[in-house]
Amino acid sequence: MSEYPHPHHGEEHHRDRRHGDQRDRGDREPVLRLHDVQVKFRSDGRSAHALRGIDLELREREVHGLVGESGAGKSVLLHTLLNLNRGSANVETSGSVIYKGRDLLTLFEPNMRKIRGAEISIVFQEPAKHLNPGLTIGGHIEDLLRYHRAAARRTAGARTAELLDLVELPRRVLKQYAFELSGGMQQRAMIAIAIACNPLVLLADEPTTALDVTVQRQILELLLRLRAELGLAVLFVSHDLGVVHEIADRVSVLYSGRVVEEAPNTLVFSEPLHPYTELLLRSVPSAAARGRELKVIPGAVPDASAVPPGCAFHPRCPIATELCTMQVPQLERVRDDHRVACFHPGELAAGESEGGSL
Ligand SMILES: Nc1ncnc2c1ncn2[C@@H]1O[C@H](COP(=O)(O)OP(=O)(O)OP(=O)(O)O)[C@@H](O)[C@H]1O
Ligand code: SF4
Ligand SMILES: [Mg+2]
Repeated sequence: MSEYPHPHHGEEHHRDRRHGDQRDRGDREPVLRLHDVQVKFRSDGRSAHALRGIDLELREREVHGLVGESGAGKSVLLHTLLNLNRGSANVETSGSVIYKGRDLLTLFEPNMRKIRGAEISIVFQEPAKHLNPGLTIGGHIEDLLRYHRAAARRTAGARTAELLDLVELPRRVLKQYAFELSGGMQQRAMIAIAIACNPLVLLADEPTTALDVTVQRQILELLLRLRAELGLAVLFVSHDLGVVHEIADRVSVLYSGRVVEEAPNTLVFSEPLHPYTELLLRSVPSAAARGRELKVIPGAVPDASAVPPGCAFHPRCPIATELCTMQVPQLERVRDDHRVACFHPGELAAGESEGGSL
């Protein structure tokens, strides 16, 4: 939806206005620390390796954009953070997700329930699917406050009204059902429910994808304001690079269940080092609008049950070498706060600027 500085154009972006000196700072403490998170689904003798070793830090008060094509593992990652796969016999999870010194992946379920929806909450692309059709918006909030004892009975009404003000919804919405609201209002209601218990972390799975451009922008503005006012850390998932550039402080690029590049927002968009990031940036319309040829990346993200050996991107990578087909590149720091998982970081763009034919 948005314009952003394409790599090598070096333009500054208006978002700085909103972020002030907070933008791109690397000195904030991590709220969530993921290490080697792996998820395998097994069914009918087949195994789908959806997450293949995710390393990621969500720092306090940051908006961390998680971007990647369909099938990259974005939703599986958010579900895993909340331990929503727990109890399913055909899911195998390993690694760690450290939150307040505890590993959420091995946390006793009753303790996890105290965190899920309260300290770490989630909003989805289609709120209506996740809201109970038989419950008013006010009913949802009151149930949650009661469950988590986040407000005493006599103050619950005031808290509910306060939440509606925070997300800029009229009070009448308290008595309405999700189906009576527009898409934008449903999303605001879902955000009100998500922030009801003062979470530290908000997970957002494509929260604006189903909305039209104007409403999309309003919801992004709302999330940025809530981050500032409530001190939330937001893990914001999207396949839309423009939206991620609009909202994120830092960005992780996900490919086939692994983070392939991670850096402050400005760096990912101005100096991408991984060939996948570079090609992803060229595949969005704003690249063409800025005089560059719009190129779709040939091929697709591999199915999680058939991930190629070595670097999973190698069948689509224009500069793959034999090494890439044999070994998995690890996510390594190439410079301060910029990590990449590639045997030839930066070489795609460099080869082209030297007049190569890639
Ligand atoms: N329950 C499941 N059983 C088997 N495979 C699954 C299951 N859930 C997800 N997968 C596989 O895991 C991979 C990642 O899926 P995921 O839904 O996380 O992708 P995504 O990045 O969220 O994509 P999208 O942008 O389309 O939402 C896909 O290959 C998908 O087929
Ligand atoms: S490791 Fe090799 S195949 Fe993978 S992105 Fe880098 S150059 Fe391309
Ligand atoms: Mg998804």
